Amino acid sequence: MTFTAKHWIKIRRATGDDVDAITEVEKRSFPKPWSREDFEKDICDNILATYVLAETRKEVIGYAGIWVVIDEGHITNVAVHPDWRDQGIATMIILSMLDAAREKGATRFTLEVRTSNAPAIALYEKFGFRAVGIRKKYYENGEDAAIMWKYDENDKLLTSEKDAETR
Ligand SMILES: CC(C)(COP(=O)(O)OP(=O)(O)OC[C@H]1O[C@@H](n2cnc3c(N)ncnc32)[C@H](O)[C@@H]1OP(=O)(O)O)[C@@H](O)C(=O)NCCC(=O)NCCS
Repeated sequence: MTFTAKHWIKIRRATGDDVDAITEVEKRSFPKPWSREDFEKDICDNILATYVLAETRKEVIGYAGIWVVIDEGHITNVAVHPDWRDQGIATMIILSMLDAAREKGATRFTLEVRTSNAPAIALYEKFGFRAVGIRKKYYENGEDAAIMWKYDENDKLLTSEKDAETR
């Protein structure tokens, strides 16, 4: 849970009761949004899926989802309502979601993102994701997807390299 000077924002796991609100944020965020049924199936029936959301006292303002298979976490979607962007909301959601995925055993994480989506690519790079390949014509409009990966092990290596440099 986070308190800022202006707003009270809570980060928590999503449940079936949040499907409508998540679908609304999705509609405001993507040209080809997932449907209400897609979210209902994923949140209520998919035991591999974990969803985390951000909410004010009034409404859900962002969410993210991940599927964990053994040690691999595949991020399915991340979106923040347009009125709430550039305020660190996605950062808080992703931090919490990666921790939840680690609790289920994930140590490496992947996702696909439109090659034109500079804000999202910058967001993922901030978390240590790196583009390792391209899925050609992955999206409905023929756009390519960048495939990004993040390995917790690499984060540890980076940290110890930094430690070594400062010794
Ligand atoms: C991408 C998205 C989730 C970012 O949400 P957000 O809450 O605004 O992100 P944050 O405020 O936590 O920003 C974290 C980092 O993301 C990057 N970022 C966010 N918005 C950016 C923008 N407009 N331009 C460039 N970088 C941006 C920056 O690196 C930023 O770090 P900084 O604040 O230290 O510079 C949001 O823009 C969104 O919902 N977009 C539409 C849906 C989408 O594209 N989702 C990703 C699909 S893979």
